[in-house]
Amino acid sequence: MSYTIRPATLADVNGVTEVARHTWDVTYAQSLATHNRRQFLDRAYTTQTLREAISHERDWFFVALRGETVVGFAQYVRRFDAQGELVRIYVHPDHQRRGIGRGFLATGLAAIAATGIELCYVSAEANNAPARAFYERFGFRLHREYGRFLGDQIIQLVEYTAPISSLLDATDLATTTEKGTEQT
Ligand SMILES: CC(C)(COP(=O)(O)OP(=O)(O)OC[C@H]1O[C@@H](n2cnc3c(N)ncnc32)[C@H](O)[C@@H]1OP(=O)(O)O)[C@@H](O)C(=O)NCCC(=O)NCCS
Repeated sequence: MSYTIRPATLADVNGVTEVARHTWDVTYAQSLATHNRRQFLDRAYTTQTLREAISHERDWFFVALRGETVVGFAQYVRRFDAQGELVRIYVHPDHQRRGIGRGFLATGLAAIAATGIELCYVSAEANNAPARAFYERFGFRLHREYGRFLGDQIIQLVEYTAPISSLLDATDLATTTEKGTEQT
């Protein structure tokens, strides 16, 4: 099965929203109350918010496509301390474990490193074992644990970080085509 990863355009907003809503429901069904999930998605995935993220000069927003259909997305930002952060990465459950996440890391880390960013951070919900395994697989190291309100509940988060050069050097992120994921 072949996937393409490319920078998102404004035409991808609806596809991103659909992937976000479904993937959030599957991923956080146990850990986040339904009303808090709904409230967060209604705020963070509006058309306006996504249009700004896709267009913003401090952001790198990528989508993965199967044919013409968006099946995943990832957004990196330049933080105010001039380091990078992977702030969203979601692959539709029907398309997970096929190399798309790896492709988002390879493409995104190379893109932000090209602008001089040296470190990348990423946070995950502490109980999100698949996401943690994914980050650890590619060399991210645990940096800190913290809590945050999401709606009316407190969620525990773990933040990972690593030098981008070591992520790209120490893993096989530079060659991500064996499962058919192409970067454009
Ligand atoms: C986490 C996520 C982004 C990974 O993307 P993906 O396309 O499924 O991952 P890949 O196929 O590129 O996996 C690469 C490697 O990461 C590790 N990995 C990925 N998913 C894993 C899982 N569920 N359990 C254990 N290891 C996993 C494996 O080592 C895998 O290699 P392998 O398949 O050859 O064993 C994706 O599963 C996802 O969107 N999950 C739901 C949303 C989410 O939790 N997002 C992160 C929020 S912080």
